[in-house]
Amino acid sequence: MNDNTGNFPYLHGFSQKEQDRLRDQARILEFLIYQDINFSNIKKLIEVGCGVGAQSEILLRRFPKLHLTGVDLNAKQLTSAETYLSARPELHGRYDLLNMDASDLQFPSGEFDGAFLCWILEHVPEPARILGEVRRVLSSGSKVYITEVMNFSFFIDPYSPHLWKYWMALNDYQYEKAGDPFIGAKLGNLLASAGFINIKTNIKTMHYDNRNPERRIEVIEYWTELLLSASHQLILEKIVSKEIVDGMVKELKLVRKDPNAVFFYSFMQAEAEVDR
Ligand SMILES: C[S@@+](CC[C@H](N)C(=O)[O-])C[C@H]1O[C@@H](n2cnc3c(N)ncnc32)[C@H](O)[C@@H]1O
Repeated sequence: MNDNTGNFPYLHGFSQKEQDRLRDQARILEFLIYQDINFSNIKKLIEVGCGVGAQSEILLRRFPKLHLTGVDLNAKQLTSAETYLSARPELHGRYDLLNMDASDLQFPSGEFDGAFLCWILEHVPEPARILGEVRRVLSSGSKVYITEVMNFSFFIDPYSPHLWKYWMALNDYQYEKAGDPFIGAKLGNLLASAGFINIKTNIKTMHYDNRNPERRIEVIEYWTELLLSASHQLILEKIVSKEIVDGMVKELKLVRKDPNAVFFYSFMQAEAEVDR
């Protein structure tokens, strides 16, 4: 299914809107994702599934000594990443962007001393194969960080039945067709099978209630965009009806306005090393 034209079932699509959404998402989650990431001693980092460069920009900004090689299967994403990063003169000369399938990386063994993967393994049919390749291109002692979804954890209050139906359909669809929405909890096993050592997993939780109403609104708005980004595909394939999507949008507006709303979602981050 995967090829270098990027023709694989990515349920959010590759539109300009989706590309902007990925950058908004990276900004909104930056604090949580990077809280525990330390690449300060890394010189040659590979970012696997770099997409539109949203995380690449953050990595280059946060770790000014590293050189980043971003690889992605989709040429459109890479063009967008190139435009985004080249608009930042301070980053020039510090990155390469390459069109490549992560399950067949075109690098010699031991080429990099760090690897970063974010929201990619959930979308691929063979995550173990990609991790095997990542392990191969890392030198001994290198570190990898992987951030992934764990969609079983989502909860929102007030209870929203259309939203719930949509969420279940979205996860079923992703599980059957294009990946694994529960891969976060499996990262430890996957990394161990690929031969990594010193594996640690962290649960990163977004829990917003009356203690932080502004952040709650920001996250609900972001989440609405995330949900809607798959709606076109789900309606097209008759996985959900337009009524379900419209009902969900109404419910999300009510949740956004509710003075006692609760938003809860946990994702996973794993870190591991290559044996010395
Ligand atoms: C949800 S996007 C995440 C992009 C970026 N990591 C971020 O956090 O913004 C997933 C990306 O993985 C890429 N991708 C999917 N399968 C791939 C593969 N086998 N090899 C390389 N990239 C792949 C897609 O083209 C897409 O750009």
